[in-house]
Amino acid sequence: MAKKKSHYTCQSCGSQSPRWVGRCSGCGEWNTLVEELAETPVEQSSLSTLRDEFRWLPSQGEAIEALDASQDQIEESERLTTGISELDRVLGGGLVPDSFILLGGDPGIGKSTLLLQVIRGLVESDSQNHKKLKVLYVSGEESKNQIRARAQRLGVSGHDQVFLGAETQIEKVFESVKQLQPDILMMDSLQTFSSGVLQSAPGSVSQVREVSARLMTLAKTAGIAIFLVGHVTKEGSIAGPKVVEHMVDTVLYFEGEGAQNFRLLRAVKNRFGSVRELGVFEMSSQGLEQVTNPSSLFMSDREQPIEGTALGSTLEGTRPLMLELQALVAPSPLSLPRRTASGMDSTRISLLAAVIEKHMKLTLGDHDLFFNVAGGLRVSDPACDLAAIASIYSSTKGSPIDSHTLFIGEVGLTGEVRRVSHADIRIEEAQKLGIQRIFLSRSDYQKFHSEFDVELISVGTVTELENLL
Ligand code: TYD
Ligand code: MG
Repeated sequence: MAKKKSHYTCQSCGSQSPRWVGRCSGCGEWNTLVEELAETPVEQSSLSTLRDEFRWLPSQGEAIEALDASQDQIEESERLTTGISELDRVLGGGLVPDSFILLGGDPGIGKSTLLLQVIRGLVESDSQNHKKLKVLYVSGEESKNQIRARAQRLGVSGHDQVFLGAETQIEKVFESVKQLQPDILMMDSLQTFSSGVLQSAPGSVSQVREVSARLMTLAKTAGIAIFLVGHVTKEGSIAGPKVVEHMVDTVLYFEGEGAQNFRLLRAVKNRFGSVRELGVFEMSSQGLEQVTNPSSLFMSDREQPIEGTALGSTLEGTRPLMLELQALVAPSPLSLPRRTASGMDSTRISLLAAVIEKHMKLTLGDHDLFFNVAGGLRVSDPACDLAAIASIYSSTKGSPIDSHTLFIGEVGLTGEVRRVSHADIRIEEAQKLGIQRIFLSRSDYQKFHSEFDVELISVGTVTELENLL
């Protein structure tokens, strides 16, 4: 028998090498190469076999169609409501019937919970969708009883519409799909499924690629909307290669910060809508609850302005997040006053304190300064400088800052306020979260003041900020 050939595949970017090397030549990551048996290329095998497999389905179209026809279909295909308006909005106005959606997030963030609630929403929205939708939820992580128990607790009903499966082999899942012919398929999670045609372990690049390629074909040929859950790696990208993100129509990230209960749902890729939409949820004992007025989360208990707090904006990758910066400045009994900062670099805070002393003519030298980012966040975005300065100033002066005011700007040593990256995305986010007033650098003001409804105020230097406050 001929010896089976093997090669090494980078688990980060998917590039292959005939021999092991410490550093992937494709993406530069270290120690990501894993030996895998040489296998037939995924796309070919799955595409041809799948076309045969799903010949029985009515909605399967011709392999080649005129462009205009398919275009119309995309535009006109009636979107379904998931019954969760925050999710519908992030999806771009509802669920497209044959779309393939990847839902990423840290383990335990609430992805499975969200999907079960989507099932509940879909069942309850029969009349809006003009159709009794059939949903198949397949879990490779939990037993049917576990899922059933959780579903019951979350109030999922609809016994003739909702079906559960506990399965890890993709071929068996396809068998069930064939029998059941669901409208919506939920796969939880990508890393637990594997295909029998490959020998590599579940979660490896080849498996992840094969499973998603097959699911994509299923979505497109059979007209099934598929939600695929994927766990996120430490680095923040969906575990396994980027190839998955290329294959799907929509990539949603579900994220939350530290021990806080709020969860943010964002689209980072969406073929059917904007990627700037943000869905906000709160995790409670009843599952996820939609937060229709998200500013209440970020500015909770803060209807009255409080001295020493100011709102800032940070970018996580390309994703903006608003946060509350808090400062406490008090006369110090010590000869060497304390400077403590959590959530932000303490050197940066000392530097900003020095800028305040120099340019705002405040004396902080005999005061303790405690600085904190609310919610246990850690930020390193220089765009938070201006908000940090505002909070320190507010605490020192004992003058509260209005709770619907946001500060965006980097502050230089000379006290000038400088432009930040992607100010437009931040402003858009702030507008969504109910902010009414934004202080920002002169150049960002000039660039964006005609584009947004929210009031923008230009600040050239921190001295100017003092007068404006
Ligand atoms: P889960 O949906 O299992 O996360 P994922 O699928 O992303 O790994 O969410 C699990 C967490 O959510 C768990 O830590 C408990 C919490 N939770 C609640 O607080 N309330 C609830 O009603 C449910 C169902 C979960
Ligand atoms: Mg889960």
